[in-house]
Amino acid sequence: MKVKSIGVLTSGGDAPGMNAAIRAIVRTALHHKIAVYGIKHGYNGLVHDDVIECDRSSVANMLQRGGTILGTARSAEFETEAGMKLARQTMNTHHIDALIAIGGDGTMRGAHEFSKKYDIPIIGLPGTIDNDLFGTDFTIGFDTAVNSALEAVDRIRDSASSLERLFFIEVMGRCAGFIGLKVALAGGADDVLIPETPTDIQALANKITENRKRGKTFSIVIVSEGDEAGDAYTIAEKIKKLVREDYRVAVLGYIQRGGAPTANDRCLAATLGYEAVCGLLRGKQGCMVGQIDKRIVFTPFRDTFTKKKTIDPQVYTIIKTLSE
Ligand code: F6P
Repeated sequence: MKVKSIGVLTSGGDAPGMNAAIRAIVRTALHHKIAVYGIKHGYNGLVHDDVIECDRSSVANMLQRGGTILGTARSAEFETEAGMKLARQTMNTHHIDALIAIGGDGTMRGAHEFSKKYDIPIIGLPGTIDNDLFGTDFTIGFDTAVNSALEAVDRIRDSASSLERLFFIEVMGRCAGFIGLKVALAGGADDVLIPETPTDIQALANKITENRKRGKTFSIVIVSEGDEAGDAYTIAEKIKKLVREDYRVAVLGYIQRGGAPTANDRCLAATLGYEAVCGLLRGKQGCMVGQIDKRIVFTPFRDTFTKKKTIDPQVYTIIKTLSE
């Protein structure tokens, strides 16, 4: 089927760079004389026919803005048979032939189910701060989230060193430690706890005690969301009992998800947005476009959410070594 019009949506958690991706998709489509429709609030916009036609100016002056101008949602309705049927009807109403869905693993799962059920050409773009999608080295939003978290860690370090304190800083990531690992390495943390590796509370306590003995007066421990030992407050309490030292906890939360995208995220978004449209026009579908070793790679939807992207164990080793 020759694609004549494309719908674009953002779904799941917002991520900095989503707007840059939307802009790239709209402008590339228009360049190829393809009509392009923005679907509001993720798959909900398809279910409830919340669709706007885009022109060049619809995406002007938003490359630098965080969040997503289309709005986003995690749609329970779309997961139902009735919801998918309504979504298909909306596509028919607007004569939308193909879709580009920007988001994380839930978004890819939804795209997979929808494309299978109605044989719709869909390409996914990896957009999540968590960087936990198989099929791309980096997801759109990850670099910005890491830099935002790092800025916060640097500021907290000023306080930690001045008051000689033990700090636990919790970063986002859901069930993945990519943000935690990178922030810990770049921020010179004493240790990092991530969901992908077992957490040894006694070993962490020993390390803090050793560091004090050799004259280190403060410590920063990065805790990734989803760690098996619990959240930062729970872990801090366990450590306090062992090292008998007071602590402070900072949960960075949503400041990691907002803000202007970094140059890396804007470039990744522009490249993948462009490649997604070109891919659809070449007949690609049922896959996510990503970048691996600087090369454009199309990965079947199913692999993006069933295969596990692994952390680089070397980074973990470097963090441990440098903080000895
Ligand atoms: O997936 C991105 C993310 O920010 C995770 O890091 C976090 O666990 C989750 O979304 C929070 O989601 P919500 O805003 O829906 O609670």
